[in-house]
Amino acid sequence: MTTSVKSGSKVKVVELGKEPAIDKLKSTEREAGALKRHEVRVAIKAVSLNYRDLLVVKGHYAKLYEGATTPGGTPLIPCSDGAGEVVEIGEDVSRFKIGDRVAGIFMQGWIGGEINAEIGRTALGGSIDGVLRESVIFEQEGLVHVPEHLSYEEGSTLPCAAVTAWNGMIYTGKIKAGDTVLTLGTGGVSIFAVQFAKMMGARVIVTSSSDEKLARLQKEFGVNKNDCINYKNNPEWDKQVLSLTGKRGADHTVELGGAGTMSKSVNATRVGGHISVIGVLASGESDFNPINVLMKTIRLQGIYVGSREMFEDMNRAISQHKLKPVVDKVFKFEDAIKAFQYMESQAHFGKVVIKL
Ligand SMILES: NC(=O)c1ccc[n+]([C@@H]2O[C@H](COP(=O)([O-])OP(=O)(O)OC[C@H]3O[C@@H](n4cnc5c(N)ncnc54)[C@H](OP(=O)(O)O)[C@@H]3O)[C@@H](O)[C@H]2O)c1
Repeated sequence: MTTSVKSGSKVKVVELGKEPAIDKLKSTEREAGALKRHEVRVAIKAVSLNYRDLLVVKGHYAKLYEGATTPGGTPLIPCSDGAGEVVEIGEDVSRFKIGDRVAGIFMQGWIGGEINAEIGRTALGGSIDGVLRESVIFEQEGLVHVPEHLSYEEGSTLPCAAVTAWNGMIYTGKIKAGDTVLTLGTGGVSIFAVQFAKMMGARVIVTSSSDEKLARLQKEFGVNKNDCINYKNNPEWDKQVLSLTGKRGADHTVELGGAGTMSKSVNATRVGGHISVIGVLASGESDFNPINVLMKTIRLQGIYVGSREMFEDMNRAISQHKLKPVVDKVFKFEDAIKAFQYMESQAHFGKVVIKL
């Protein structure tokens, strides 16, 4: 797709209208817009999908996260994660030059330090328009460089899933060599959790509904066969984790299921351990009992993606270790609806990407 997007021209976009549904996503055009002095125009080359984008498109996100997010109005351009090439810069831009390969940060206002409510209202593809379009105008502060060894498709996977895993396990969880990390499923966040745990010299225990996906974890990431648990065949996977760790439990759990898995995650985590509370994959009725958290002095930490500072720290580690994100399947821009449907089927392993 051409990158010759200029102020005054039109760009192709995908929009979510008033009726939320995957098959109601609409291809249309918008004005490219003019740059302000400190802004950067990025020709988007790849967009990666997150479970959250599915929730947004299906109209579930605002209900689930009531009070924690301000949904944007409609029409809304979905998707938080995009990578592309800088094609135009405002006169005061100092962080980037034309031709740079960049990715947008999930919350455009979270540069460093603590998050606050105002920052939470700057999330791409939720509170504000996202990146599923030919070009985006970003504030220069809202972008990072993509690690050199990564393609645009790989770079597009970083802003949400990778930064979330990094924030949960490394920035907040402070895992170290020899620790045991437990992560749930083989979606985007979980596969980054596996990769970062390995990078840090930790042992990783992974659950999945699929023996084929568990076999890939052994083959491609050297996860120990015994540390791969099929949670469909073994609904008491928490007990399995305790047994695998000599009754100690995991030092750190990447909690992606929410209400439906929290009790088991608490059971599977060691006394004094840490749980990153991240996901809602198994939301529904919960038998969660806080007594187990206090009696085990477990630290439960809510994680909402992360800041640009965390993203840049993570990118240094990714570059140093030449870590490659796992891209499961790449769809054409014209096939955005098919990409969402594939993501919804949960057939993927790692990330689903749309190429522009
Ligand atoms: N708090 C934040 O900042 C933040 C950031 C990113 C994501 N999230 C949340 O984290 C979760 C994961 O996001 P994602 O984008 O990585 O999702 P994803 O790629 O769509 O992950 C899908 C995979 O999750 C696994 N899964 C589904 N139900 C499960 C269950 N009951 N128990 C264990 N695994 C299950 C399945 O793996 P198998 O096929 O192997 O069974 C499925 O293929 C979502 O709830 C998302 O909303 C939160």
